[in-house]
Amino acid sequence: MPDSTKRHPEPQQRHPEPKAKDLIIQIGNQSFTNPIFMASGTFGYGDDLTDLVDYSKLGAIITKGISLEPRAGNPTPRIIETSAGLINSIGLQNIGLKAFLKDKAPLYPKLKTRVIANIFGTSIEEFNELTDAMNRVEALAGIELNISCPNVKKGGVEFGVDPKATTEVVKNARSRTKLPIIVKLTPNVTDMTIIAKAAADEGADALTVSNTFLSMRIDVLKRRPSLATTFGGISGPAILPIILRQVWQVSSAVKIPVIASGGIMTTHDALEYLMAGATAIQIGTATYINPKAAHEILAGIKDYLTSNNLTLQDLIGIAKEG
Ligand SMILES: Cc1cc2nc3c(=O)[nH]c(=O)nc-3n(C[C@H](O)[C@H](O)[C@H](O)COP(=O)(O)O)c2cc1C
Repeated sequence: MPDSTKRHPEPQQRHPEPKAKDLIIQIGNQSFTNPIFMASGTFGYGDDLTDLVDYSKLGAIITKGISLEPRAGNPTPRIIETSAGLINSIGLQNIGLKAFLKDKAPLYPKLKTRVIANIFGTSIEEFNELTDAMNRVEALAGIELNISCPNVKKGGVEFGVDPKATTEVVKNARSRTKLPIIVKLTPNVTDMTIIAKAAADEGADALTVSNTFLSMRIDVLKRRPSLATTFGGISGPAILPIILRQVWQVSSAVKIPVIASGGIMTTHDALEYLMAGATAIQIGTATYINPKAAHEILAGIKDYLTSNNLTLQDLIGIAKEG
């Protein structure tokens, strides 16, 4: 019963700041201290920015994409700025599995955060070999499968645009590892929920929505495409409203956690994704502008939860239509 004798009820108490345990999220059999992850390809192999960033405040770092053999990447120019983001055609340059296992993996047990390995192959066999190798990396917290790469046995069509190829990659990976499998989807499809369901049905533990959008610019002085490869993937603020729509659609279509990746620069951006149904978010291009973006966004999310008397779990998917 309301107390009618109290004409001026006590002002509502400010909720105490969320406790560390309230920010923990679970993906497969692993837990992460908070929902802020560093996106693949924008944070090196996880050992590069130890002086600039307080790793203990990051939920996880996702490594640059790793392939079986080292890759030199595409010719330059391979990165250009636009008014609202970056277009890159780095071409998945990386040191390759052998050097990764020798020089990078041994550092991970000592880092103050968790590390997820992002892997990609041009055939199921390559994905399998990489998955097997990652099983042996101490302290690894998961594998992110980048399926936005061409399947050479299927005429170079990207795995991630084909539900059957997605099924094959995820099924194989699932049969080889107990580590969480996060499938990173491509936005360059008509209906992402079809691919999302194919991955979830084969036992993926989470989905990253998503990779970059295919795009281009033209150098009007030279009268030719600005990038040496003509097309590149656009990231940054330009893609946020589109990826937000895809996070909304995918998180309604599957029961596994969705990790949002696309143009998150501020706390407001992160809140939109969490409200749309994302369980965690990745910070990518923002780190190039402000290496402390992830810390600031984490602090902003905590403030929002405190002042609105909400838990992280309340916030996830809180936005409703109508
Ligand atoms: C320079 C650069 C390199 C990237 N390399 C990878 C990669 O190796 N593997 C991958 O799955 N995604 C890669 N990405 C995509 C990012 O992880 C992220 O999904 C995308 O940039 C969207 O997020 P953002 O707008 O916050 O940057 C790369 C992005 C950039 C800008």
